[in-house]
Amino acid sequence: MHQPRLKSKVRCTDREVGEITHVIVDPLSHDVSHIVVGGNGGGGRQIPMSEVQSVVDGLVQLRTASNALAQFPPLKREDYVTTHEVEIAHLEDHLHVESGEVLVPLPTLERNVPRRTFFMNLTHVIGALVALPLAFPVLKYLMKPMYSPFDNAWLKVGNVNRIKTDDVGMQFKYKKKVKEAFMPEAEVDKNVWILKASPAVLEEVYRGKDMEFRDQTGRLVWTNKKDVPYVVFSGKCPHLGCGYKWRKVPKLGKEIFLCPCHLSIYEPSGKVLDGPAPRPLDTLPIRVDAGGNVEIIDMEFKAGTKAQTRIV
Ligand code: FES
Repeated sequence: MHQPRLKSKVRCTDREVGEITHVIVDPLSHDVSHIVVGGNGGGGRQIPMSEVQSVVDGLVQLRTASNALAQFPPLKREDYVTTHEVEIAHLEDHLHVESGEVLVPLPTLERNVPRRTFFMNLTHVIGALVALPLAFPVLKYLMKPMYSPFDNAWLKVGNVNRIKTDDVGMQFKYKKKVKEAFMPEAEVDKNVWILKASPAVLEEVYRGKDMEFRDQTGRLVWTNKKDVPYVVFSGKCPHLGCGYKWRKVPKLGKEIFLCPCHLSIYEPSGKVLDGPAPRPLDTLPIRVDAGGNVEIIDMEFKAGTKAQTRIV
């Protein structure tokens, strides 16, 4: 039997039902496996070649009656590619339909996925699977400093017997071992300000409530009790992180914390009195033993924000 050609008329046993709009080719055998009949009631149905009785002079005769065509599935164009889009070796040696939409079924896996995207995604997945075992140790090493937990160690900073007057800021210097990303560990000079707060200043600091400090998992690290008079402030100004000083300001008739960088002024309680600082001085965990030895937990917070966000 001749191969059915595109645009050939198609007849059922009772009447003509349209013409061939596509032929579907088996990519392995190179034979035409189906014709697609459109127009006049053909309805774009895929009709298997087993239903073709004869092909004579551009007329395709089917074994089926026209009212039985509905049993054949309609063409799902997205499940096929044309022979212009795929290279099938020696197809033309076997196929004699005129040029047009000669279709080849897509592999099942590739259906419903745009063709190029499928292969691109597949290539990426394979590449990622190959690269992952190699990249993982490097990524782990590089990212470790970003995710290492905060250091909540207690640091000795001195003795409170240095403080002779209430509500007067006293600077305590200490050294801290710091490991910056991939640099070797180094010891840096740091400082905090501690004052022995009067009940009025203590009330301004704690607002009648104990102050809790938590780590990034939400675990409670320490609680500053609201009635312990020693209060410690981070040595960094919350505006942009400069160091600040304790100053007597005759004009104000009081002593305050003054940051020289942009002139933020803080009350002894750490409350902002003037300047660009977005929040009060950062209070840190403090504990004082019976002999007056002070320990603090060194914490650093994001500068320039109203919210207090711990970064170290
Ligand atoms: S850094 Fe202190 S006022 Fe700007």
